[in-house]
Amino acid sequence: MPTAIVTGATGILGREIVAALGKDPKWTKIHALSRKQTEKYPPTVKHDHVDLLASPQEIAKQLKAQNVEGEYLFFAAYMATDSEQGNSDTNGAMLQNFLDALALNGVKLKRVLLPTGGKQYGVHLGPVKCPMEESDPWIEGPGRPPNFYYTQQRILAAEGKKQGFDWVVTYPNDVVGVARGNFMNLSTALAVYAAVNKELTGELEFPGAESFYNRFDSFTYNKLHAEFSLWAILEPKCSNQGFNVNNGDVESWANMWPKLAKKFGLKIPSKQFDRPTPDQSILKLAEVTPYEDVASTNGMEGKTPRGTVTQRIDLVKWSQKKEVKEAWNKLAERDGLEKDVLEKATWGFLGFVLGRNYDVVMSMSKARKYGWTGYIDSWESLEASFDELAKEKMIPKFA
Ligand SMILES: NC(=O)c1ccc[n+]([C@@H]2O[C@H](COP(=O)([O-])OP(=O)(O)OC[C@H]3O[C@@H](n4cnc5c(N)ncnc54)[C@H](OP(=O)(O)O)[C@@H]3O)[C@@H](O)[C@H]2O)c1
Repeated sequence: MPTAIVTGATGILGREIVAALGKDPKWTKIHALSRKQTEKYPPTVKHDHVDLLASPQEIAKQLKAQNVEGEYLFFAAYMATDSEQGNSDTNGAMLQNFLDALALNGVKLKRVLLPTGGKQYGVHLGPVKCPMEESDPWIEGPGRPPNFYYTQQRILAAEGKKQGFDWVVTYPNDVVGVARGNFMNLSTALAVYAAVNKELTGELEFPGAESFYNRFDSFTYNKLHAEFSLWAILEPKCSNQGFNVNNGDVESWANMWPKLAKKFGLKIPSKQFDRPTPDQSILKLAEVTPYEDVASTNGMEGKTPRGTVTQRIDLVKWSQKKEVKEAWNKLAERDGLEKDVLEKATWGFLGFVLGRNYDVVMSMSKARKYGWTGYIDSWESLEASFDELAKEKMIPKFA
């Protein structure tokens, strides 16, 4: 009977891995780790506190005192900083410290699963070659910023060799689901945007780029990612492999925005992209697109224009407007909602997700060839997340 440790147990990806392990009778002992505890757990799950930025010796001491051990590690802890160098240093250190601490305690891991994401392909830097495939080259070298996923994957491979475990890396993208106080949460911000607009105008204007409205994105439902993780960590064929983990469809906002409007009882302005944009912001991405790194091999050299993120309504500024705060406070008061949801929602992240001028399509072929059959309709995953947010009193209930 396998036993597990999950770091980042309260995060948007980690909490669903813990929930899935807790429901599966095959997993007899699960240690859920984070600095704060925000969840109630089934009897097979024990939550322990650990700060992964402490020294390996200090972490080892804490783990020993809490009897933390296991054969399978899901490393879903994540900390955002304000620079790519900071992300690399911090998230690299958290993984290295934890693996060192387990080794100090003599814990013998069999396999480690590390969730990373679309930054693997440079989706944060501009246009990428689509669909993205796991065999695509890493976007690094002169002129490229550090990438914390590469730092973590190098640590994982080196420690695996040293300590005798193997590993699996997942590449989810634009994760859909519920979590409290996390760094990248698309569903909560979307739901709050819609709920406030219902109070203010009854209209749902797309705040992102007109160019992205009809382009394609790949989403990852956190519950589907958890299912994949439980499968891949035990599947012998997945040893030392990286996998895109998406819902299995591609979606556009042109398709999902009307569904969102209907769900919240709102109307989309018929000529929404002809409206004036006094609160627009435009961010230019890397001068050399990630696509350029493969362009010499597919004859597209110099052909991909620089990426931009255009927010027709800049969402960080929108969330700080007096009328928005007043509308949210009124709504929260009236419906008994958590007051700080507006402030904690990740507006910069949602603005980025909606504002790009390029497709973000990941291939699921490799996972399917290895035997994965999971799928969920992306709109249905968003709708399920909105229903969960309403149940947890983070947004108003639906009629
Ligand atoms: N969210 C997305 O849309 C998305 C998309 C693609 C990829 N990803 C990737 O998925 C991975 C996991 O991210 P996530 O979004 O699931 O993270 P998240 O929701 O922000 O959760 C982070 C988790 O790490 C824990 N943590 C943070 N600092 C810690 C520390 N010093 N010591 C111990 N635990 C700590 C947090 O709990 P405490 O603060 O209580 O410790 C929390 O449980 C990251 O690599 C991320 O880049 C995310």
